Amino acid sequence: MSAFEPPAVVVNIFAVIGFIAVAYKSLRVLLSILKNVKTFVLARPLGLATNPKRHGKWAVVTGATDGIGKAYAEQLAAKGLNIFLLSRSADKLKDVATQIEQKYKVETKTFAVDFTGAADMYPSIGDQLTGLDIGVLVNNVGMSYSFPQYFCELADSEKFLPNIININCLSVVMMTNLVLPGMVERKRGIIINVSSASGMNPSPMLTVYSATKAFVDFFSRGIDVEYRSKGIQVQCVMPFYVTTKLSKLRRETMTIPSPTSYVNSALAALGSGNRTNGCLMHNLQGWVIGSVPEWVIDSVQMTIHNAIRKVSLKKLAEKKTK
Ligand SMILES: NC(=O)c1ccc[n+]([C@@H]2O[C@H](COP(=O)([O-])OP(=O)(O)OC[C@H]3O[C@@H](n4cnc5c(N)ncnc54)[C@H](OP(=O)(O)O)[C@@H]3O)[C@@H](O)[C@H]2O)c1
Repeated sequence: MSAFEPPAVVVNIFAVIGFIAVAYKSLRVLLSILKNVKTFVLARPLGLATNPKRHGKWAVVTGATDGIGKAYAEQLAAKGLNIFLLSRSADKLKDVATQIEQKYKVETKTFAVDFTGAADMYPSIGDQLTGLDIGVLVNNVGMSYSFPQYFCELADSEKFLPNIININCLSVVMMTNLVLPGMVERKRGIIINVSSASGMNPSPMLTVYSATKAFVDFFSRGIDVEYRSKGIQVQCVMPFYVTTKLSKLRRETMTIPSPTSYVNSALAALGSGNRTNGCLMHNLQGWVIGSVPEWVIDSVQMTIHNAIRKVSLKKLAEKKTK
C-alpha cells in the first residue's frame, strides 16, 4: 500500500455512498417517467384525473375570452360546468359566452373588468359571485412585456409596473380571497393558477414578469398545503410557449401546443400533484431546465432575449420613421 492510498474501509464507504446517490437519482427519474406516463398517457382513457364537476356547479375563469383562459372555459363547460367569464372587453365576453352556451348547453355569466386595477374593484366582482356554487376557480389572466427589455428601459414604467403586478399577482390573491371561503365551507373546490415556466428560474429581460409568476407558484404551493386537508385541490400550471396572442406565436409545433391541446393535457394532470408544466413536452422541458446549472440558463436566456430585444427595437424605430 503506498503512503497516499486510502484504507479499504474508506474506499468502500465512498463506493456505497456513490451507489446510493446513483440509485436515488435513477429512482427519481424512473418515478418521474412513470408519473408523466400516468398523467399524460393513461389519465384520460382510464378516467384517473379529478372530475371538476364533482366540486361544484360553476367554474370562474379570469381572462376567459382568448388563449389559455378561453380553452379552460370551453373545456370545463364540456365537462358540464356553468362558466363565469371575466375579461376586459364586454363584446368579446358576450361572444364567447354565447358560443359556450350554444355548444355545451350550460349556463354562463360574464363580468367585464380590467385586472390591472387595484384591490378596491374586487367587492364588485364578489357581488357578482354571491350565491354561486363555485367548484373551480381558474386564475388565468396575465400580461407580459411587449418584448424583452432591461428593467430601466421599460416604457411608462410608473404605470406598467403596478399594472403587471396587479394583473399577475393581485388578481390571483384577491380572486382566491373571494372564492376560497365558500369552497372551504362546502369542503370541496379546485383552484388552478396559471403561472409560467418563466417563474421556475429568473428570466432576465422579462424580470418583472418572471418574478410575478414565481409569486404565483409560491402562493399556490402555500395555499395547497394550508387547505389540502380541507378538500381543496390547488394546481399551479407553468406553461412554456403556447400559441396565443400573448406569446405572439401562431404555428403549433411539438413543443408549442395550441391552447386547446395544452389545456386538455393540463386538466388531465388535475389531481397529480400541485405543480405541473401542463403537458408532456413542457414537463420534459421543465425537467431539463431543472437539471441544468442556473448560470447556463441565465446566459442562454440573456442571449436569446437580447437578440429579440434588438429586433423589436429595430422594428419600433422603423415604425416611428414611417
Ligand atoms: N401563451 C403562452 O405562451 C404562455 C406561457 C406561459 C404562461 N402564460 C400565461 O397564461 C395566461 C394566459 O395567457 P394567454 O397566452 O392565454 O393570453 P392571451 O391569449 O393574450 O389572452 C389573455 C386573456 O386575458 C384577458 N385580459 C388581458 N388583459 C386583461 C386585463 N387587463 N383585464 C382583464 N382581462 C384581460 C384577455 O381579454 P381581452 O381580450 O378582453 O383583453 C384574454 O381573454 C397568462 O397568465 C400568461 O402569463 C402564457
